[in-house]
Amino acid sequence: MTGNRARVDARDKVMGAPLFAADRVPDGLAHAALATATIDRGRIAALDTARAEAVPGVRLVLTRLGEDELRTAGFLMAGGYAFQSFQPLTSDRIAYRGQPVALVVADDPVAATHAAELVEARYEAEPHTVRIDDPGATVVLQQEAIPLPFLADVVVGDADAELAKAEVRVEAVYEHPSQNSAPMELIGAVVQWRGDTLVVHEGTQNAASIRHGLAHQLGIDAERVEVVSPYTGGGFGQKNSLQPHIGPLAIAARRLGRPVKLVLTRPQVFHQASFRPVSRHHISLGADASGRLLAAVHEADQQTSRHDLFPATFTEVTSRLYGVPAFRGRQRLVQTDVQTPGYMRAPFEHPGAWAMECAVDELAHAAGADPVELRLANDTTHDPVTGKPFSSRHVAECLQRGAELFGWAKRRPEPAQWIASDGSQVGWGVAIGAYPAASTPAVARAVAYPDGRFGVEVDGHEMGQGIRSAITLLVADLMGVPANRVTVGLGDTRVATQHLTAGSWGTSSALPAVHAAILKLRETLGGRRPTGAPVAVSASNEMPEPLQERARAGQVALAGPVWDDFVAYSFIAHFVEVRVDAGTRRIRVPRVVSVADCGRVASPVTAASQVRGGVVWGLGAALREGLEVDERYGGFVNATLEEYPVTVNADVARIDVEFIDRPDPLLNPVGVKGLGEVSMVGVAAAASNAIFHATGRRVRRLPITIADLL
Ligand code: MOS
Repeated sequence: MTGNRARVDARDKVMGAPLFAADRVPDGLAHAALATATIDRGRIAALDTARAEAVPGVRLVLTRLGEDELRTAGFLMAGGYAFQSFQPLTSDRIAYRGQPVALVVADDPVAATHAAELVEARYEAEPHTVRIDDPGATVVLQQEAIPLPFLADVVVGDADAELAKAEVRVEAVYEHPSQNSAPMELIGAVVQWRGDTLVVHEGTQNAASIRHGLAHQLGIDAERVEVVSPYTGGGFGQKNSLQPHIGPLAIAARRLGRPVKLVLTRPQVFHQASFRPVSRHHISLGADASGRLLAAVHEADQQTSRHDLFPATFTEVTSRLYGVPAFRGRQRLVQTDVQTPGYMRAPFEHPGAWAMECAVDELAHAAGADPVELRLANDTTHDPVTGKPFSSRHVAECLQRGAELFGWAKRRPEPAQWIASDGSQVGWGVAIGAYPAASTPAVARAVAYPDGRFGVEVDGHEMGQGIRSAITLLVADLMGVPANRVTVGLGDTRVATQHLTAGSWGTSSALPAVHAAILKLRETLGGRRPTGAPVAVSASNEMPEPLQERARAGQVALAGPVWDDFVAYSFIAHFVEVRVDAGTRRIRVPRVVSVADCGRVASPVTAASQVRGGVVWGLGAALREGLEVDERYGGFVNATLEEYPVTVNADVARIDVEFIDRPDPLLNPVGVKGLGEVSMVGVAAAASNAIFHATGRRVRRLPITIADLL
């Protein structure tokens, strides 16, 4: 299909045409592999590399770099460029199991891998802590430890006093496990020097952080670093910054005078990259007899590492799901011996909304109210935290349309009363989700060619979410040409700054810049094709200058979701049916209905795909995914895709997706809000609530498995 609604790179991808980072095979390529720590905490007492160096084809074994040779790139959330501040290979410190202790480079990957296994390390181990409840874990109050306004506790009114007066009360603790993003494309890079310019091919969501982070680490000018990442095979937050092995790779490539490739193994991805940390949520709700919410308290603990405080913003979203007049949030961080955790799709919104939306279901049950009706009764047009109006909020329409599509009116209210003809218990659950609509600086360059083609280069990374399609369709629409006349340059520091694409702000940041550039181009062209030279113009999405400056320096620069005159969020409602087998207690999901409010739908095919993917993730969180920590050695026991079960086709039958598709009039001229993350927010709650409805069992710990229902 070449129509103006398709995923524009679908055919190319099916044909294997796009080059992902590790697909690059430059002349003289050498291959790297890592030797990794087998203890969780302590120091390296001795490293013997003799056997590794003796392997035929081995060219270099790097074990220690001077701190002046390779500086720390700093933690992304503390003004740096990397997912953690800790830089392996620059000291004898072991901060987590699986940390690299040596980088081996050889003529071929087999020799490199074999040699890495022959590196012999002797450690001095220290006691380590892997669980947030272990005595060795250190608990800090987030708003004291990181005194930044957006990380402070959310407090509106006197929630505790209101709770005490409430006629209906619910109080419960919900436990969410750690998880790994596990994108299909393994983390990897091809790094090479072209003269004194460092060229990095890596699948990333943040080419700017790699560029500026490497410049900082190596003490070179950022102008001397090029990062090329036109396609990323899934990021989900795990590829949001400079990875710690890139600096050592650059040094190895310089010493050898050859390009070097490193692809982490799947277990290394689990142990060396960021992950969704463990979190625990203590929720208290108070309502009047009808279920109208009067107060909510959300106290959350989130795991972090010893070396970084990965901040939590659970209460930013849970305080805004409903028009609750009194709210108290409190967030604590719990330090354990692990690599720094990080952002994984809907990092706070998914766990936070899971807990809150399960509690709301418990409230509906306690109040004897229908879960959809109770949610509608607690809807709001204004943000309860700031009092500002929402730029657009179609929660009620999402719930009403979803209920209609799902057939919610036929639900039997009492739990554990509905048996299908095969004897399985049937349950229907509902939940809503919300996700902040932030924007980041974006600059677009638009070019008209004499032959009728158009090119656009813009800030943004294509990680499969469909940003290239959304941009192409906008340009094709505005210029009145077929999509195949439009090419889009993304993820490349040679064509734009390439600020981090994450937080569901990619499309809503890039499109307004592209929109402005195309309008300017149309005006410049005056309805005519260029004759002779192509015509090029540039425009931005007009973020404040200080933000643009931060972006140009490779740092995270965000505006929203609280804007001057409004608060902007995307919303969604999910309806899930479960069937619980009478004998085995196996949980099946025959169907899901999801209705999303993401403003204007910029690219219908990829948007629907985003939502289906988000639903699959949410079901994975509800029923499958969870990291098992290794108490003996630290790290994770199930660090492979065989043992870390993700949802597969056989787990999900039917997912129906609809959009409200009403442009957000205030957020930006194109009217788009984000979609990638809101799509999974609330899914796990709807599934958990459906399991309660099917069985009468309220399970407050994910994933919910057969063992919970025996
Ligand atoms: Mo996403 S977790 O904001 O890359």
